[in-house]
Amino acid sequence: MVKTAKNMKLNSKKIKAKSEKIGIGVIGVGTMGRGHALYLSQYVKDSKVVAIYDANISVANKVAKEVSKKSKFLLKVYNELSQLFSDSEVQAVIIASPDHLHARHLGQAINANKHVLCEKPLASTEKDARKVAKLVRQSNSIVGLGFMRRFDQAYQKLKSEINTGKYGKVLQIRATSRNVSSPTATTSMLLTNVAVHEMDIIRWLLGEEIVSVQVNFAKKTRKANSYLSDPISVNCHTESGVLATIDIFANSTYGYEVAMEVITENGSLVIENLGELSIAKNFKLPARKSGNLHKDWMGRFKPAYIAELKAFVSSLKNKKLHKDFATIEDGLAASIACGLGVKKL
Ligand SMILES: NC(=O)c1ccc[n+]([C@@H]2O[C@H](COP(=O)([O-])OP(=O)(O)OC[C@H]3O[C@@H](n4cnc5c(N)ncnc54)[C@H](O)[C@@H]3O)[C@@H](O)[C@H]2O)c1
Repeated sequence: MVKTAKNMKLNSKKIKAKSEKIGIGVIGVGTMGRGHALYLSQYVKDSKVVAIYDANISVANKVAKEVSKKSKFLLKVYNELSQLFSDSEVQAVIIASPDHLHARHLGQAINANKHVLCEKPLASTEKDARKVAKLVRQSNSIVGLGFMRRFDQAYQKLKSEINTGKYGKVLQIRATSRNVSSPTATTSMLLTNVAVHEMDIIRWLLGEEIVSVQVNFAKKTRKANSYLSDPISVNCHTESGVLATIDIFANSTYGYEVAMEVITENGSLVIENLGELSIAKNFKLPARKSGNLHKDWMGRFKPAYIAELKAFVSSLKNKKLHKDFATIEDGLAASIACGLGVKKL
């Protein structure tokens, strides 16, 4: 174990007062894990990050220093993941390692009796997702998945507007997902890593499963590596026949965009790229927001990540997964839907 922030002046009284807080360990502290650790320290009372593990020890040390500075708490950096799992101060873990390791890390966390917030996707393959879902079902751990759009105000408003019934039935959904740059992406990742967000939110919005997926290819950008066809268009049908088209561009260069239009019998409900819901109905198109695009998801979805972390900590306190979380069954269903698309590549 490496202690960090050695020179930090620690106020022992403060630490004692904070000892009631739920201890959280973070596995993988790249962009997302670092973000979760910092947001927990800054915005989520009743919790503290007590330990970190990352396969890259220098990344782990750097993030631990940053987090310690924010929380005024000296946290532990482990050389081995097993050490984090044996730490009794770690009551719950956040898994933010690369996608293909989620199922393994989640299984290990369950075996160590830890509660878990596992980043999306549940797994990179349907096989791994099914295997780990079985383990979770048999455990007593609280497990939530990091589909943070469920905590985003615009998506929540969209769902409640649809549920009023005043726009009639949903007929079609058009979604856009664009990243600025994705140097290591592959075409199958556009499904399992990117479209998995839309697969989840479509199921959540409509309360029905995705039953078929087609993938169509656009002219390829010169920015894409040799393993990546970019952009692509993913066309899905749900059980009741709603057509959902997810247009993905992993190397847009010009900005990060996540948008969704839900076309109903009586209107068009749009979540804009800057996160506003606007509704076109009765020949009226509301003014739509313009401005600077975000560079990535951390800016656009910051409030949703914080809401998700607060909900996770409240789940631990109430011993029950918060109602807004994607469950293990949701994670499995989204992975199955992505698998339908991967088979078409
Ligand atoms: N919910 C969201 O909006 C959202 C956004 C971005 C990423 N994610 C997910 O979060 C996860 C991490 O993504 P990221 O963008 O932070 O990636 P990243 O590459 O920035 O970070 C991954 C980190 O995991 C570490 N790592 C690699 N192997 C490991 C191992 N065996 N054990 C522990 N750590 C290991 C790496 O050293 C790195 O620091 C991915 O699964 C991704 O799909 C979710």
